[in-house]
Amino acid sequence: MTRRLDATQSGIATAASILRAGGLVAFGTETVYGLGADASQPQAVARIFEAKNRPRFNPLISHFANAQAAFTQVVPNAMAHRLAQAFWPGPLTLILPRAPGASISDLAADGLASLAVRVPANATALALLEQADRPIAAPSANRSGRISPVDAAHVLEELDGRIDAVLDSGPCTVGVESTVVDLTDPNTPTLLRPGGITLEELAAICPHISLPQTTSDVAPHSPGRMVSHYAPHLPVRLNALQAQPDEALLAFGATRPTLAPLVWNLSAAGNLEEAAARLFTGLRTLDREGQALGLRRIAVQPIPQHGLGRAIQDRLNRAAAPRPQDGTEDMAP
Ligand code: TXA
Ligand code: MG
Repeated sequence: MTRRLDATQSGIATAASILRAGGLVAFGTETVYGLGADASQPQAVARIFEAKNRPRFNPLISHFANAQAAFTQVVPNAMAHRLAQAFWPGPLTLILPRAPGASISDLAADGLASLAVRVPANATALALLEQADRPIAAPSANRSGRISPVDAAHVLEELDGRIDAVLDSGPCTVGVESTVVDLTDPNTPTLLRPGGITLEELAAICPHISLPQTTSDVAPHSPGRMVSHYAPHLPVRLNALQAQPDEALLAFGATRPTLAPLVWNLSAAGNLEEAAARLFTGLRTLDREGQALGLRRIAVQPIPQHGLGRAIQDRLNRAAAPRPQDGTEDMAP
């Protein structure tokens, strides 16, 4: 049985005690709902992979109530301090060398010499992390390879009965996962995953940030990045200028006449923040209603490639990627 906890003092206290006892609690952040476990208890971390039905281990982000707590686990450099100052709490994850004596388990770190840390911008999540008082590993709270959840109902659709509780803090405001920046080599800060902090925002603080050209470049650094991910059941067709009568349409911008019988507009006003916040709910809705209507595909209109458009396109590319036969996610080549 999965308990649904309200974002009240007692709900948060219950969630924290479940985490401290090695249980699994999904909780809302500003990006997506995370499936949390005590990162220092390998058995608790193992339960994350089991609940998500994830076929392999991969390194997880550990979450903290503040930068000071995060920097007990890693060795920050000058750029880490500047980025943390500028963007924490917020949708930025930093990869840094593991600190001597760090408590994060090898299972959460996948045995790497570096660790991923972040301070989320959500009052309920911060209160939970404060009370848990330990690093909390939290990948998105969905079955492996599927669409990330941005409200508590999505979490229950994915994981009801497989986790101890979901702490309901309402819908996520950003809607795409955090931006991941590798700072292990202070001379070459590298963007590993586009996300809620845009490249333009990052570059204002970190002008020399480098962008890997392809996913295979990213793979060795960020082994958890899968090619097929965020996958609805219906196939996805990208950069669709027109939709067909057997397609559901994921639109962006001013509404135009379409043959598609089912439409979800990410933002009629063409606003990328609104589009990011509506992305995963839109994919989930078109997938469910499109299947019910017997549609064959989800067609996606072009998304402008600036600001949050890069993170949105990254998720859509993965939703459209060829899927492994067994329906589970697989490693990037
Ligand atoms: O917004 C988010 O970041 C959400 C919410 C719940 O906070 N969390 C999330 O976690 O997306 P997760 O564990 O699914 O994302 C982990 C990402 C993967 O791309 C993984 O490869 C990368 O971080 N990562 C983790 N540790 C790493 C490391 N030591 N070196 C390189 N990449 C690492
Ligand atoms: Mg995920």
